[in-house]
Amino acid sequence: MVRKHRRLRARKEIRDMVSETVLTPSDFIYPIFVVEGENIKNEISSLPGNYHFSIDRLPEIIKEVEEAKVKGIMLFGIPKDEDKDETGFPAYDNKGIVQRAIRKIKEVNQNIWVITDVCMCEYTNHGHCGIVHDGHVHNGETLDYLCKIALSHVEAGADMVAPSDMMDGRVASIREALDSKGYDNIPIMAYSAKYCSAFYGPFREAANSAPQFGDRKSYQMDPANSKEAMSEIEADINEGADIIMVKPALSYLDIIRKASDKFDIPVAAYSVSGEYSMVKAAASLGYINEKLIALEMLLSIKRAGANMIITYYAIEAAKWLRGIIL
Ligand code: PBG
Repeated sequence: MVRKHRRLRARKEIRDMVSETVLTPSDFIYPIFVVEGENIKNEISSLPGNYHFSIDRLPEIIKEVEEAKVKGIMLFGIPKDEDKDETGFPAYDNKGIVQRAIRKIKEVNQNIWVITDVCMCEYTNHGHCGIVHDGHVHNGETLDYLCKIALSHVEAGADMVAPSDMMDGRVASIREALDSKGYDNIPIMAYSAKYCSAFYGPFREAANSAPQFGDRKSYQMDPANSKEAMSEIEADINEGADIIMVKPALSYLDIIRKASDKFDIPVAAYSVSGEYSMVKAAASLGYINEKLIALEMLLSIKRAGANMIITYYAIEAAKWLRGIIL
């Protein structure tokens, strides 16, 4: 007997009923870049449709996020160049850019789930994600600073912290630091399988965070490895991660699938800057249909097993899904 698969594809009604994967606005987390200064909303050239916001202009993007029914944001701070130092002081300064941004957001909106990226590369003068000695990122010393950064974010009001540095043992250290100050209710979303990827290029331009020497291969993962990702994730879960992340998403769908099959905690996927910029660029040249391609990409990430997707398309995709824009 020939199985007639097409019977269940005949009309939209039945196709919708048998659909295995559905995207909704609450699947998305929107990254926001905050800069020093006043009255700034500048489009980021490498990420068209995304902006650098000064703190006073954050309320308008927060309102847009809420209206789109996106539930969470991920904050990235970009300090002034002259404030950067060897230890990334503006990252853990209580009056730093991210800390002030969180306070501002919490002042105007108590619903949006505020996640912060806990890392040092946007704040150090050498652009590496940790404390550097003799050209090498020192794991132990970096942990002390990551704890200070995470704690300062939470003290400012962050709902969740997301360490993205890839030092060994950071989840355990941050968990302990938060717990010791009574923040045992604050979850950690660990960038567990974060690959050393060329797809971060547009972000590094947007965040002015490219390493000033060398590369990140001694801490971020080799794109060739899959078993190692499971080991990284397992370690983070054992250290207390509440949500684990795979990053980038599109070229790592196999890792997302494996992680979601293997582990019983939520999996986040970060559809990174390069994935977004490629689609934007091809769409602007008329080569592809942006909306269809973007939604298909996001669907594939969810189908692979991601529970949530950090994406520069968050607001736009949420509006597409709800028919607010066509
Ligand atoms: C910070 C960080 C990076 C990204 C997120 N957090 C840059 C990097 O690791 O170089 C990249 C996000 C993107 O490309 O969209 N370490």
